[in-house]
Amino acid sequence: MSEPAAANADVLPILLLNGPNLNTLGTREPTIYGSDTLADVVALAERTAAEVGYGLSAAQTNHEGQMIDWIHEAVGRISGIVINPAGWTHTSVALADALVVPGVPIMEVHISNVHKREAFRHHSYVSPLAEGVIAGYGIRGYEFAIRRLAEILG
Ligand code: DQA
Repeated sequence: MSEPAAANADVLPILLLNGPNLNTLGTREPTIYGSDTLADVVALAERTAAEVGYGLSAAQTNHEGQMIDWIHEAVGRISGIVINPAGWTHTSVALADALVVPGVPIMEVHISNVHKREAFRHHSYVSPLAEGVIAGYGIRGYEFAIRRLAEILG
């Protein structure tokens, strides 16, 4: 997991989590996900977080247990979570259970408009936990999610 970029030291950072296969952004189905890479996502998120006064800690994994461990380890150390749960959105009760643990606001992001795609992508285990859900805005969705999270955090 990346160290939070410097911001106001009294403010806990935002945790940005990206789920499985998002490490392949840029080359994975570019007609659906575009040509920006995960590094572009993290750079955009860090820039946006800094603009709204937060540091950002970013992590991506293809391993569900690792993601859950990171969420547990974040307890008391983060202001909020921005997550693209990727395929786990539609399958993982365990991830949803973990996301409740830190007790911080959550924003859910999808690069594509999942509702325009296959029916199995229309259900999310994460959405009932999220303050907001952004889908179909490409990687700008991460920027919108961070700005909205900062508004919610006040
Ligand atoms: C995704 C949409 C999911 O359905 C898919 O499994 C992903 C990416 C998105 O960002 O559009 O991996 O979360």
